[in-house]
Amino acid sequence: MCELYSKQDTLALRRKHIGPSCKIFFAADPIKIVRAQRQYMFDEKGEQYLDCINNVAHVGHCHPEVVKAAMKQMELLNTNSRFLHDNIVEYAKRLCATLPEKLSVCYFTNSGSEANDLALRLARQFRGHQDVITLDHAYHGHLTSLIEISPYKFRKGKDLKKEFVHVAPIPDTYRGKYREDHADPTSAYADEVKKIIEEAHKNGRKIAAFIAESMQSCGGQVIPPTGYFQKVAEYVRAAGGVFIADEVQVGFGRVGKHFWSFQMHGEDFVPDIVTMGKPMGNGHPVACVVTTKEIAEAFCSSGMEYFNTYGGNPVSSAVALAVLDVIENEDLQGNATRVGGYLTELLKKQKAKHTLIGDVRGVGLFIGIDLVKDHQRRTPATAEAQHVIYKMKEKRVLLSADGPHRNGLCAEKQSPLSKRLKT
Ligand SMILES: Cc1ncc(COP(=O)(O)O)c(C=O)c1O
Repeated sequence: MCELYSKQDTLALRRKHIGPSCKIFFAADPIKIVRAQRQYMFDEKGEQYLDCINNVAHVGHCHPEVVKAAMKQMELLNTNSRFLHDNIVEYAKRLCATLPEKLSVCYFTNSGSEANDLALRLARQFRGHQDVITLDHAYHGHLTSLIEISPYKFRKGKDLKKEFVHVAPIPDTYRGKYREDHADPTSAYADEVKKIIEEAHKNGRKIAAFIAESMQSCGGQVIPPTGYFQKVAEYVRAAGGVFIADEVQVGFGRVGKHFWSFQMHGEDFVPDIVTMGKPMGNGHPVACVVTTKEIAEAFCSSGMEYFNTYGGNPVSSAVALAVLDVIENEDLQGNATRVGGYLTELLKKQKAKHTLIGDVRGVGLFIGIDLVKDHQRRTPATAEAQHVIYKMKEKRVLLSADGPHRNGLCAEKQSPLSKRLKT
């Protein structure tokens, strides 16, 4: 393999020319990755790493079917969506078939951030409301509009919370305000949202949207209690707002039993807007917002057209179609259930042996391990989590520590292709 620079030179050039706020994995000893296949990545010396860190290479790195689809379409045509083309409509049709019927209108973008930004525009245009309720520790993207609704980010920086943003407590029954010993955490957490709405109304403000990941990922691998989203949706809609489900990280069958994580919350829960990205293109930048006809028509009635130079182009759509095919043909949802279940079982056995493990939670291949210094107080074991990820790296397993206290080991990023690990 022809390498342009030695690892040291690459690092030096990166330090010189790439913005210092662009963080690198394993900063104390970064890895130079030169190629990848399936669930493995390889460094410049040919060392193989098991990749549990990428949340994008959903069907496995460089899947031949995906690569082939991209090459074939690139040879033929790439242009914007102002021309009629089969790929974009075929993809929209197939995507909508995975969603509840009322979610039938797609807008294509190039990243999850763009998708969430557009979702906010749709929500605000719908009834002319402005305010957004978001969950504590949430991350929804890097655009200005999204940093504003991402406590995970704005709490770290110097950005103050904007007056049109309301932060609801994260519905975390392990570490949150109402825990598993509470009589009714579902209602208690949903009532917090209701209170926020009432308070906003008292101040003459109007709610445009509630936004949440269907399961909070970076914010600590949190699975909301059953029925929480239904109650929240009821309160938000009564206030004239819409429910935005951010599936950028947790969609496309990662949870196994369902294609979308919001479906885990029951058939009676259907968001008004769903955003998606990351796994959608398996590394190729393609993302999407899906909404109802009613919301799409309200957006159109503003008279402002939506145009995105690259969104939904024939190549991106071909890639996304190939990803859907692979998920289906290789039964990756079944795989997420089987491998995820097996991994969770093993981790629970480890929990019985190691006091450092406070909680193991997850579904399918969305799994978090909450490390604690003591079980009773659930004090986050942040330094220990760092130690573990560096030790795992020595064993050639790439993991990250995440969550508000950076004490959660996340295996949710594991590619479903890890079925080839043979359980
Ligand atoms: C839940 C969630 N939403 C949105 C985004 C933003 O996506 P992108 O980085 O593609 O802009 C991310 C990225 O990490 C995410 O995790």
